[in-house]
Amino acid sequence: MGKITVPIICSMKHNEKIVMVTAYDAPTAKIVDEAGVDIVLVGDSLGNVIQGAPNTLSVTMDEMIYHTKLVSRGIKNAHLCADMPFMSFQSSSADAVRNAGRFIKETGAESVKLETTVDYIDTIKAIRKAGIPVMGHIGLRPQSVHDMGGYKLQGREKSEGNKLIALAKEIEDAGAFSVVLESIPQKLAKKITRAINIPTIGIGAGQDCDGQVLVINDLVGLSEEPLPKFVKKYAEIRKTMTKATKDFVNEVRNGAFPSSEHSYD
Ligand code: KIV
Repeated sequence: MGKITVPIICSMKHNEKIVMVTAYDAPTAKIVDEAGVDIVLVGDSLGNVIQGAPNTLSVTMDEMIYHTKLVSRGIKNAHLCADMPFMSFQSSSADAVRNAGRFIKETGAESVKLETTVDYIDTIKAIRKAGIPVMGHIGLRPQSVHDMGGYKLQGREKSEGNKLIALAKEIEDAGAFSVVLESIPQKLAKKITRAINIPTIGIGAGQDCDGQVLVINDLVGLSEEPLPKFVKKYAEIRKTMTKATKDFVNEVRNGAFPSSEHSYD
């Protein structure tokens, strides 16, 4: 498999499903790249899953730059997308372009993602004007957790759903190459996917999206329960790590480790 580029991602709509996962460090990036994912996203979800914060709001540009650099070292083929953290683009389009540019110049990221409302259509246009590919993100926007009153399904009401369809079209017209649909009803995700010509990548948005994304810690079973309904665990890494560590604790305490096999003569 060769390098996955933005035009390749766009051409996958209608042809094959796009697979995106998050990563926050080099070894994980290498594993998911070698497993064949199309896009690696350095999500600001690192606030929750790496930093142990209650939400993503405290994540800084410098932290995102650091983690994106690490991830970039592990990737050979996948497209690398960096998430614009809270207040890296909300203050002005000029700040947005400067910060998106930092990702491209300093980390090896090939595109940026930003949580999008109608207020940030011009921001997408400004970043695009600088030649930087942009992924939109609509529906549940974790950076607006206080505004939304929690992590809730979005677009259930018809009027809300219609607004999201219109917003997805505006995001496409602004020049974004794809859009994440988070926590919206499956039927609405299908309508949005049919209404636009750029790929939709769903998380909690059902099977009709052009692609799917999950947070890596969730999909390998490293995250603490409870997990959202849309998460499927493909492994039980948390249980495996706990058992391995407990075995080490016991063997050190009872003298079984290190044996001669793990010692030098
Ligand atoms: O921050 C993140 O990891 C994300 C994905 C879940 C889409 O935005």
